[in-house]
Amino acid sequence: MLTWQTINTHVMITTAQLHLDKVTLTKKSRLADQDVNKVPFGKVFTDHIFVAEYEDGKWIKSYIEPYGNAPMSYAVSALHYGQTIFEGMKAFRTVKDETVLFRPQENFHRLNKSAIRMAMPEVPEEIFMGGLVELLKIDKDWIPTDEFGSLYIRPFIIATDEAIGVRPAETYKFVIIMAPAGKYYSEPLKVLIESSYFRSVEGGVGFVKNGGNYGRSLYPTILAQKKGYQQVIWTDSKTHQYVEESGTMNLMFVIGNKVITPGLEDTILAGITRDTVLKLARLWGYDVEERKVSIKEVIEAHENGTLKEAFGTGTAATIAHIQTIGYKDHDYQLPPIEERKFSPKVDDTLRAIRKGKIEDTFGWMEKVC
Ligand SMILES: Cc1ncc(COP(=O)(O)O)c(C=O)c1O
Repeated sequence: MLTWQTINTHVMITTAQLHLDKVTLTKKSRLADQDVNKVPFGKVFTDHIFVAEYEDGKWIKSYIEPYGNAPMSYAVSALHYGQTIFEGMKAFRTVKDETVLFRPQENFHRLNKSAIRMAMPEVPEEIFMGGLVELLKIDKDWIPTDEFGSLYIRPFIIATDEAIGVRPAETYKFVIIMAPAGKYYSEPLKVLIESSYFRSVEGGVGFVKNGGNYGRSLYPTILAQKKGYQQVIWTDSKTHQYVEESGTMNLMFVIGNKVITPGLEDTILAGITRDTVLKLARLWGYDVEERKVSIKEVIEAHENGTLKEAFGTGTAATIAHIQTIGYKDHDYQLPPIEERKFSPKVDDTLRAIRKGKIEDTFGWMEKVC
């Protein structure tokens, strides 16, 4: 039986039971060849993966096997028509040597939200959670131990019909792969407000995590990088007057004593880190505003000295400080990180909660038993 529970209360919030059809362990672990505290992000994967297969309207089997290449045809529909969705989440090793997950229920629900929008089958909780827990139990030694380390977890669903023709596939695979990760950005970011291209559109798919959203973002990002910026700030597709997200992160500003972030519309991904940061902001007495944020407002706040902080939030980086915002051939410099009060405190607090160094009053961490 697979169980997982909150650390503080030890209340069993679900008992995910999964019958694995097969577990094949690797003959030789690659762990000894790695320093998991030093590997580059997203390039080294743990020894095992979890797979569940969908066919004839149901999830038919699930198994764990050594990480390796996928046995599939070049005709599979995911490659041609983009029926592919994913999640990004993290496991941590606490100071007490426990394996913990950060808000995994949120990723489970968001994956299924993406599945519905992309006409793909939802994954039952026992497969998502049960598969994840089993995989973590086997590969837990891959979780970095250092302060900034975590195990990045990538659950995804792909359409696997071997057929050309645009229609929802009839067969799918739900897969979980995992990669040790360290600090994501070492320097504060220089970002460019994008005024020609857009990431998402009303009535589109910006609020879900399908592969196409990311593919389309690359070209404008390369153009920004050629101008010396690391990332873009996406704006609304109709007027390009309102900021939406930055790269693959939600976007926040501290203006005066307010934490301000674009409200959740169907063009914006409902980030789990975003929600976490806003909960901490409210706890610490900040005024929080979730609403449309215009470029004009941000620039005016910069000019009158009230723009204290700008940063992106996301699972990979947690907090990515923004140092410079470029807009129409002008670079706006923000206060140095050392002068910022809110986002560094969020970063430190979340790291301490995840490592089990301070109490998790929100019940965000789930212990993998
Ligand atoms: C487009 C986009 N926005 C925001 C986020 C941040 O979401 P989260 O905090 O859940 O990682 C992500 C990452 O998943 C993303 O891809």
